[in-house]
Amino acid sequence: MSEAQVHLISHPLVQHKLTLMRQKDRSTSSFRRLLGEIGMLMAYEVTRDMPTQLIEIETPLETMRSPVIEGRKTVFVVIMRAGAGFLEGMLEVIPGARVGHIGLYRDPKTLTAVEYYFKMPHGMNDRDAIVLDPMLATGNSAVAAVDRLKETRPRSIRYVCLLAAPEGIKNFHAHHPDVPIYTAAIDRALNDHGYIVPGLGDAGDRIFGTK
Ligand code: URA
Repeated sequence: MSEAQVHLISHPLVQHKLTLMRQKDRSTSSFRRLLGEIGMLMAYEVTRDMPTQLIEIETPLETMRSPVIEGRKTVFVVIMRAGAGFLEGMLEVIPGARVGHIGLYRDPKTLTAVEYYFKMPHGMNDRDAIVLDPMLATGNSAVAAVDRLKETRPRSIRYVCLLAAPEGIKNFHAHHPDVPIYTAAIDRALNDHGYIVPGLGDAGDRIFGTK
């Protein structure tokens, strides 16, 4: 994987659904459903270069060798809590994947990430990790999550978000130039509270209806 890649997923279906999600009056159930659908569509792009292996199968007419991906080698790494909203759609596409969780909260004063939970499946060195968090804002949580994840030595790491701020991308790739970012949009900037603008607000609150 070459250095510091950012993959902008510009597919019209993804862009259309993202526009709907940005609307401030969208209901919690609609927001959540759209995130699930975008998750499915983004999984398609994120797994595009995943290795396949040939297995022997029987069609109704004859036997053949045909490619499959090693779903069980994939681990979705959910950054709690907003990352959980992304998971459902991704698992629709790769149902055999394993799931790890990283709990981080953002200190409201310093905007730095503080860890409170970390649980990964065994045998990480044999797995491809796909980190999920809808919002790449300051990048501090993303950097801290991938710092911790790298301690488990996964075979590869990809970072998937819905929206990214330029500041977050810069910060993330200053620390992890080897980890490609997949995002549906790069927004203008961060505001003084560390929110992405124009953005879509607080993703966790909008997924779980906590505001
Ligand atoms: N987290 C969010 O949920 N939204 C932002 O805009 C930034 C961080």
